Amino acid sequence: MGEQETWGIEVKGISRKFGNTIALKDLNFKIPWGEKFALLGPNGAGKSTTLKLLTGLLKPNSGEVKIGGTDPSTEKARSIMGYLPEDATPYQMLSVRENLEYIGALRQVENVKEATDNLMDFFDLGEYEKAKVGKLSRGTTQKLALALSIIHKPKILLLDEPLNYLDIPTQEKVITLLNSLSITSLVSTHIMSVASRLTKNVIMLSRGVILWEGSMDTLRKLGETEEPIESIVARMMTGAR
Ligand SMILES: Nc1ncnc2c1ncn2[C@@H]1O[C@H](COP(=O)(O)OP(=O)(O)O)[C@@H](O)[C@H]1O
Ligand SMILES: [Mg+2]
Repeated sequence: MGEQETWGIEVKGISRKFGNTIALKDLNFKIPWGEKFALLGPNGAGKSTTLKLLTGLLKPNSGEVKIGGTDPSTEKARSIMGYLPEDATPYQMLSVRENLEYIGALRQVENVKEATDNLMDFFDLGEYEKAKVGKLSRGTTQKLALALSIIHKPKILLLDEPLNYLDIPTQEKVITLLNSLSITSLVSTHIMSVASRLTKNVIMLSRGVILWEGSMDTLRKLGETEEPIESIVARMMTGAR
């Protein structure tokens, strides 16, 4: 499946409420196979909710989500999807290696040991190999969570604020890694500079609706000469001209 479909990700008229809070209102967007998109928006915009709906872990009140042409809760969709939740918490009582080997096995990774070694090496997790996750710093936990989200080489990667908690050298490493992967991805962030380094395409969310969608280059051109992109975005988000 998948390759014959035009769209890696489709969101059709999604709405989602939590009690009286409308988190998302009639959201529509499509991401072609192989394209990388940023989901940009301030806190509370609905970014994490959108990603949870894409994983199938959360159901919409109305509307439809398709991953590689099928419902996200199908086995097929799940097998091609990788997801880094916001504030990800790997198994606290397992060590770093145990987490990777366990998730790798669940994900039916062919050579789990090799995949684990490669990821521990890439993320400099060697010294924490036997450490229980509950004892790790937030940054090290985030590195492990990132490794867990890609261990099965997903075709579609959903990352919720992936650079949170990471130090600058690790951020650079992760940006290089993500740019090197030729996969479909949607990365949420509230930081413009992160979006601009990871993707060419932007979906800008504010208060549960899409405020603007287009290319990063177009977004830059919407501003005045020399205006930082953050300030363009801030103007759009506040509705100011
Ligand atoms: N489980 C939940 N229960 C109640 N309200 C929620 C829940 N999840 C999200 N919300 C609300 O939905 C809105 C969007 O939240 P979220 O998707 O987390 O935004 P973002 O990730 O952009 O910061 C916010 O108003 C938030 O308070
Ligand atoms: Mg969030």
